Amino acid sequence: MKNRFHLLATAVVSLLCVSCAETQVSQSGSEKAVNPPIMGWSSWNAFRVDISEDIIKNQADLMVKKGLKDAGYHYINIDDGFFGERDGNGKMQTNKNRFPNGMKPVADHIHSLGMKAGIYTDAGNNTCGSIWDNDHAGVGAGIYGHEQQDAQLYFGDWGFDFIKIDYCGGDVLGLNEQERYTSIRNSIDKVNKDVSVNICRWAFPGTWAEDIATSWRISADITPKWASIKRIINKNLYLSAYARNGHYNDMDILEIGRGLKPEEEEVHFGMWCIMSSPLLIGCDLTTIPDKSLELLKNKELIAINQDSLGLQAYVVQHEKNGYVLVKDIEQKRGKARAMALYNPSDSICSFSVPTACLELGGTIKVRDLIKHKTIDTNKEYLEYELPPHSAKFFRLEAEKRLESSLYEAEWAYLPCYDDLGTRSKSVRYAPCEKASGKMIVSFIGGSSENYAEWDNVYRKKRGAYEMKIFYLPEKNRKLEVNINGKSYFFKNLETDGSKGIMTITLSVQLNRGENTIRIGSPYCWTPDIDCFTLKKKR
Ligand code: GLA
Repeated sequence: MKNRFHLLATAVVSLLCVSCAETQVSQSGSEKAVNPPIMGWSSWNAFRVDISEDIIKNQADLMVKKGLKDAGYHYINIDDGFFGERDGNGKMQTNKNRFPNGMKPVADHIHSLGMKAGIYTDAGNNTCGSIWDNDHAGVGAGIYGHEQQDAQLYFGDWGFDFIKIDYCGGDVLGLNEQERYTSIRNSIDKVNKDVSVNICRWAFPGTWAEDIATSWRISADITPKWASIKRIINKNLYLSAYARNGHYNDMDILEIGRGLKPEEEEVHFGMWCIMSSPLLIGCDLTTIPDKSLELLKNKELIAINQDSLGLQAYVVQHEKNGYVLVKDIEQKRGKARAMALYNPSDSICSFSVPTACLELGGTIKVRDLIKHKTIDTNKEYLEYELPPHSAKFFRLEAEKRLESSLYEAEWAYLPCYDDLGTRSKSVRYAPCEKASGKMIVSFIGGSSENYAEWDNVYRKKRGAYEMKIFYLPEKNRKLEVNINGKSYFFKNLETDGSKGIMTITLSVQLNRGENTIRIGSPYCWTPDIDCFTLKKKR
């Protein structure tokens, strides 16, 4: 049963992909450039709490000498380990052995090089270093209870530009993430509204984070091991909807130059680039291997990370063990796109990617961003074989931009989504073998806020369309589809789960340009959603 419906769904999806209609793209170029992910160096991976004034200044100097500043890496971030103890007035002191002159001269040195300076705290009482690295001075060094005092010291007196706010102490105290981080942001704003904040809660914290931070960690700590790189990429595959307006999913400090194999370093750096993660170098620059340095300075990969649209690539195809990710670059719905082919498996994986699924047509210039070579093709499929643990990254520039007929559920923005794991029945992206792209969205509905939204459903032509929703039947479900503010309700859905993926079809009016489509139900759970398709009515 399962297989029959899988085949049916796959056939429908393939058919729709290759029948995408060609569109003329408006060349207005009026998009506003957003702040790109930050690039720089961080002390944690190579030095943990064993940092000092000399180490930080020397690494900052090396960033300039080795051409990394010129390549765009502008932040020098001091992580855990600079703390002394608070004095009688609660004022934070610096560690006298590691930073005998305090932190201001360090920030000043970084600024004198034309770079920005970053610092670290914890949302609770105690730092992670006090728990895991035996750094006793980290006890009571967190910002909890000292928010305004620490904000004044770090950003007013010392002049730091960035702060990473960890959560070990917050976790111990069982604090509420949204409440704490909002309160800290408000305290920082009273001193300097331009401070860039990173939320380090080791999981996607919720959509509220966009109002607080320029980036948020999505995973537990990285290590210089292939399994760790693969695990973090896996965590980020379906979070593309949350990287927007200059706010990004943080895949953690880079482990380039710390012992990964060359092809694994390419996967690591390339995926961090195309997924628009902050790029913070994490190795000791006194010993960085030449090959790793060269990779970190790859201009073409950096360009897709720092692209003015600030988008994260999404999974457009997942077949066998491979993933194909794509995103617009330079201009929304233009003819240039960045693409990654990613093989995380331990065996060879062959890729056959219909160019129509990439929404590109005619002759396509395919530029390999690691080999720096371009080929022209007008084949209907891009075909590659990738060895285990490898990836390829491309800039594609086509003659024609096509219109997509298929929208996956896993591309949707879910306003109620978080990855904190604190609630058993909360909205999520879930693997499902029989679904197109092998993913669905489940636990939508039950309140007017809990919907899935696609805000970029682009149509060249205004008019009537047939919208087909692919869903998984379940008892007692309702469905509301909202298109540009107009609602359509469905009650009589299939309820027999053994039937596999089913469809409902509705006739909808769509505008020329971008449309916003929401699926949910304010009254009860909706069925789990696989995808929807759109077809122009005659
Ligand atoms: C946590 C963070 C790390 C690092 C350490 C410092 O583990 O996730 O990135 O900042 O704390 O103790």
